[in-house]
Amino acid sequence: MTCGAVGLACGAAGLHLTELDCATSLILTSGAAGMACGAADISIYYIKKEVKEFVACVRALEIMSSSLSNHLLLSLQRPSVSTINPNDHAAACSVVPSSKRRELICCLATFPCLLPLTPIMSYLPANAMPLDTKEYVLIKQEVRKVLSKAKAAGVLRLVFHDAGTFQLDDNTGGMNGSIIYELERPENAGLKKSVKVLQKAKTEIEAIQPVSWADMIAVAGAEAVELCGGPPIQVLLGRLDSLGADPEGKLPEESLGASGLKKCFQRMGFSTQELVALSGAHTLGSKGFGSPTSFDNSYYKVLLEKPWTSAGGSMIGLPSDHALVEDDECIRWINKYADNENMFFEDFKNAYLKLVNSGVRWNGL
Ligand code: HEM
Repeated sequence: MTCGAVGLACGAAGLHLTELDCATSLILTSGAAGMACGAADISIYYIKKEVKEFVACVRALEIMSSSLSNHLLLSLQRPSVSTINPNDHAAACSVVPSSKRRELICCLATFPCLLPLTPIMSYLPANAMPLDTKEYVLIKQEVRKVLSKAKAAGVLRLVFHDAGTFQLDDNTGGMNGSIIYELERPENAGLKKSVKVLQKAKTEIEAIQPVSWADMIAVAGAEAVELCGGPPIQVLLGRLDSLGADPEGKLPEESLGASGLKKCFQRMGFSTQELVALSGAHTLGSKGFGSPTSFDNSYYKVLLEKPWTSAGGSMIGLPSDHALVEDDECIRWINKYADNENMFFEDFKNAYLKLVNSGVRWNGL
């Protein structure tokens, strides 16, 4: 990325180069392969007023880099963001002069030729709240009061049924709380009770502070995973709720084969690897993948055994689960996750963060 290119990108964002502090300018360099718009650099500058916002920005870039991982090579001018502990304000302070942090706004600049990528940018929670706020702690605390291991599966499913309507091409659907208007749809059968569980917590929280359904569901799904022994996941806050239902027929049907599932996830902006990682959520619930209340990698181990092919095992898994194990690309990930639970946890966490940021309209943007 040359200085000229930086200047061009800054100009596009209406900022002066001299106002930008290089220490906080992060550069994503795209690989030419796979990008319809050709090889070019994407410059993304995040300069935050407060250290906390800077920390949120670090997380945003982690999510962004994950979502573009097949196409983009992340390179950072300085410092190495990946080495900054999101909770370590001191570290964040040491790399961003406070005068700059306070006076400059967060901006996103892309080259015009990369405009087709803007739907991907919708993953960026540019105005999201940081993780360690009183608000986050309160939501987590109230969610934990109403959540139990038995309710965890339904709550995690709620996340997918809210966010899984996201369509990358027209930027519709996504994690916007619209599920509360969609509970009569056949694919959402059984989810009313999960909404009811969270309604209790939402009411308690709203006695103190407003909270959107989208944030409630995103946090609750993460808590459900952790409660059942899965990885801790901290989501960002600040999602706005939709005022109505999302378009119908966007969630994958359980009768889909592997190629249909892949296409459906591609339309949401998810790779095959992310499809396989997210499907590991089916380790919770009563589809026969180990303990219904343990979040572990038994989903993949059971898939490899194909118990549905033998007498008495026909009730195990959904047709869509069975389809994954018949696909060459999916089976590679199934093998990895069956062998290595830590890898599954890490990939699930990243895919989950991407899911709950899909199509989000962030408060204040
Ligand atoms: C790959 C495409 C997917 C299909 C076709 C699918 C479909 C289904 C179906 C039909 C059920 C059974 C519902 C019932 O028992 O009434 C189910 C359960 C469940 N799904 Fe999915 N799902 C998919 C992906 C996901 C994803 C990505 C997540 C979360 C990240 C998820 C989370 C869950 C959970 C936790 C359950 C168990 C719910 C319970 O037992 O209460 N699913 N899914």
